[in-house]
Amino acid sequence: MCLPLCALSMTDTSSGGGHPGDKSASDDTSRFFTDEGLRPRVFRNEQLLSISAVPDRDRIIGRDTEIRDLSYHLRPVVEEQSTDPILLVGKTGTGKSLIARHVGNTAKEVGEDLGLNIEVVYVDCAQHRTEAAVARKAGRSVDKQLGEPLNVPHTGLGTSQYYSLLWELFEEYLDAAIVILDEVDMIQTAGSQANHDDILMQFSRAEEAGKITTNLGLVAISNKLDYVENLTPRVRSSFGSNEMQFPPYDANQLREIMYAREDAFRDGVLEDAVIPKAAALAAQEHGDARKAIQILKNAGKVAQNRGEEKVREEHLDAAQERTEVDRLEEHLRSQPTHARHVLHALANLTESEQATPDKKGYRTTRVHDAYVTLCEETGKDALKIDRVRDLLSEQALLEIVESSKVALGKSQGRYASWRLLKKPSIVRRCVSKRDEKEETEAEGTTSQSTL
Ligand SMILES: Nc1ncnc2c1ncn2[C@@H]1O[C@H](COP(=O)(O)OP(=O)(O)O)[C@@H](O)[C@H]1O
Ligand SMILES: [Mg+2]
Repeated sequence: MCLPLCALSMTDTSSGGGHPGDKSASDDTSRFFTDEGLRPRVFRNEQLLSISAVPDRDRIIGRDTEIRDLSYHLRPVVEEQSTDPILLVGKTGTGKSLIARHVGNTAKEVGEDLGLNIEVVYVDCAQHRTEAAVARKAGRSVDKQLGEPLNVPHTGLGTSQYYSLLWELFEEYLDAAIVILDEVDMIQTAGSQANHDDILMQFSRAEEAGKITTNLGLVAISNKLDYVENLTPRVRSSFGSNEMQFPPYDANQLREIMYAREDAFRDGVLEDAVIPKAAALAAQEHGDARKAIQILKNAGKVAQNRGEEKVREEHLDAAQERTEVDRLEEHLRSQPTHARHVLHALANLTESEQATPDKKGYRTTRVHDAYVTLCEETGKDALKIDRVRDLLSEQALLEIVESSKVALGKSQGRYASWRLLKKPSIVRRCVSKRDEKEETEAEGTTSQSTL
């Protein structure tokens, strides 16, 4: 029997022009790894444009006030005293995660010089979305940093057991800890705020509740500007007035941020117009440094893939499109199936009616109809219109769709209208890709569980 692999190897050798076992064919491939002349020519250090890396201090532009204020706020921790929790809020790409991590790491270094063992515990709640998952991640990461003295297990324990292990690690091994709960609003609340509040309460009151004597600096971060208003008064009062707002960057600041990472590229590769134009593109919605850096990196990749030796202004359109795809894919990873169907339905509607481009948007009933059709095609049970309206409102908060109220005429009230803020073709492509991925994963789980 000829397996697919066999077909593959046949195509491979024939396209390489060699015979099976022909050494020159494999040498031909190995050249791509070793030949200096074939080295991709655009980047010198692509890592400098990685979003999750924390750049050195001299590459952090502006934000001096935020760095100073957060440092002062956390200073008691390195002076072996307690400090209140603090909340950082601002839109995406305004430097919240960066500043929290930079200041946290600096506190750890200063502590080391003073002979104190301070750990920074960073949890991205967009990836660890339940209280148990956050407690587990925190416990496992401290344990790992300390050389795994407690071997905190990956599975099998309840939330309170993970907390107990975490407190034990703090108590036994650390002089102080800085806990950063990033994107804390992403924690699933199962219809109430209970979960958010519980987590914040656990960390912010751990000392007071007598669970630990280790000084703990809690830094909570949210992209939602009104986050604090949704917390219960008890938790809100634990933050007191300790809230720092991160404003969006202007195009000048975005330019400086990119210039400070220019050496990610080889000398002379980046044409002069690229950074100013990329800054202007990133400043269009709101001044988002993540977008600026992603566009710059993608411009390099576009040039590289086209085999060109210079990154030029012309590469920016394709780079921006690629950035939109990357960001939408990232967004969709955390969205439930029906939210994706609703976006897909809105994209279908928009594409089918592009002949009327002045159209402001679509009424909820029309989006719901398109969504029901989609569910019928894919054999899914459709949600009722009220739930679809809720899902649309959530997408509006996340700036994927725009909602507006349209007046019906004299004293006849108003209706909600929805418009996609992303290109419909990109939305359809990304949603389908995500749907397929989840189906494959689900099949994998089923076949594993039947083994
Ligand atoms: N002031 C700044 N100077 C240099 N780089 C920045 C600055 N602000 C943000 N960045 C970079 O932009 C990206 C997004 O920043 P981040 O801190 O993740 O934003 P937020 O957490 O507010 O969404 C990161 O790669 C970060 O390094
Ligand atoms: Mg962040």
